Amino acid sequence: MSRPILLVKSGGEAAMPEWQRHFAEHAPGVEVRWWDDPAVDPAAVRYALVWDPEPGRLAGLPNLRVIFGSGAGVDFITADPDLPKGVPLARMATAGAAQRMGEYVTWAVLSLLRGARRIGAAQAERRWDYFEPERIATGTTVGIMGLGHMGQAAARMLQGVGFRVTGWSRSPKDMPGIRSFAGMAERDAFLAGADIIVCLLPATPETRGVISAPLFDRMRDGTGLVNAGRGSHQRIEDILAALDSGRLSGAVLDVFDQEPLPPDHPAWTHPKLLVTPHVASLPPRGERAAHVGALIAMHERGEPLPNLYDHARGY
Ligand code: NAP
Ligand code: GLV
Repeated sequence: MSRPILLVKSGGEAAMPEWQRHFAEHAPGVEVRWWDDPAVDPAAVRYALVWDPEPGRLAGLPNLRVIFGSGAGVDFITADPDLPKGVPLARMATAGAAQRMGEYVTWAVLSLLRGARRIGAAQAERRWDYFEPERIATGTTVGIMGLGHMGQAAARMLQGVGFRVTGWSRSPKDMPGIRSFAGMAERDAFLAGADIIVCLLPATPETRGVISAPLFDRMRDGTGLVNAGRGSHQRIEDILAALDSGRLSGAVLDVFDQEPLPPDHPAWTHPKLLVTPHVASLPPRGERAAHVGALIAMHERGEPLPNLYDHARGY
C-alpha cells in the first residue's frame, strides 16, 4: 500500500532533499513530496507543511487532514481566502523556537541598553567613540506586547538577566515576578511604565499598524523598541520619525512589510536603528521535522494537537 503524502512548501524545492532526510527519520510512514511536483495525486495528500502557499491551493487537496505551518506565525497561510477552515492548522511552536526568540529578544534589548548600533558604526569608521551608558538591566523595565509562547520565553530570559519585566496580552497572565496587563483598558498603563517595548504579537486585523505614532504618544520619551513579530505591526515611517525626534531612543527591527528590505530603504542607514533580516527565531529543518513527525503520530493516534490556529481568535 502506498504511504500518505506530506506535501512541502518551505525553503523552496532546493530544500527538499534535506526535508526528506529529516522526515525519513522522524515520520517514516509518510512520503515527502515537493509542493509543485506534477506527479502528485491531490487525493493522496494527507498533510501539508507550508510557509506561504498560493491562495486556493490547499483547498484543492480533498483528503487533507492537517496543515502544518512552517513558522510560529501562520498569517501567510491564513491570508488565503479559500483556506479550508475545517482542516486543523498547527503552528510551529517548538521549545527551540521559543528559546531562540528569548535569546534574540535578550540580545536586542541588551543592544539597546549598551548602544550596540553606535558602537558598530564607530568601529566601521575606526573611531574611538568613548561613552558611558547610563542604564543597567536592574533599573530597566521591559514591556512585552504578546505574552504567548514566544513572549513568555523572552520574559523569563530577560528576568534572568535582571530586567524588570511586564507583559500585555488579551487575557491576564500569572507569571512569577512579571506584572501582567490585559486588553485595551490596561494598554496605556503598560506602555507608560516601560523603558523598552518588545512586540511579539501575532498578525491580526487588531494588531495591524499598532507600532505607530499613536502608540509612541503613550510611551515615555526615549523608550526603546524591538519588533520581532511581523512587519505589518509597524509603520516604519512613524518609527523613523520617532527616532529622529527622540520620542524613541533606539530600535531593533527583525521584520518588515517588504522582505527582503529594499537596499535603498532609509531604515538600513538610520543611526539609531539595528536591522536584522527576519532571523529572530527559525528552528533548523531537523527540529521542525521532528516536531511535525511527533504531531503526525499524535494525529494518527486520534489525539488532539497542541497550538492549533484558532479561526475565531485570528491567531
Ligand atoms: P502566541 O503564542 O499565539 O501568542 C500571542 C500573544 O499575543 C498572546 O499572549 C495573545 O494574548 C497576545 N495577543 C493577541 N492579540 C492581541 C491583542 N489584540 N491585544 C493584546 N494581546 C494580544 O504566538 P507566539 O508563538 O508567541 O508568536 C507570536 C508572533 O511572533 C507570531 O505570530 C509571529 O508573528 C512572530 N514570530 C516571529 C518570528 C521571527 O523570526 N521574527 C519567529 C516566530 C514568531 P492571549 O495570551 O491573551 O491569547
Ligand atoms: C517566523 O517568523 C515564524 O513565524 O516562525
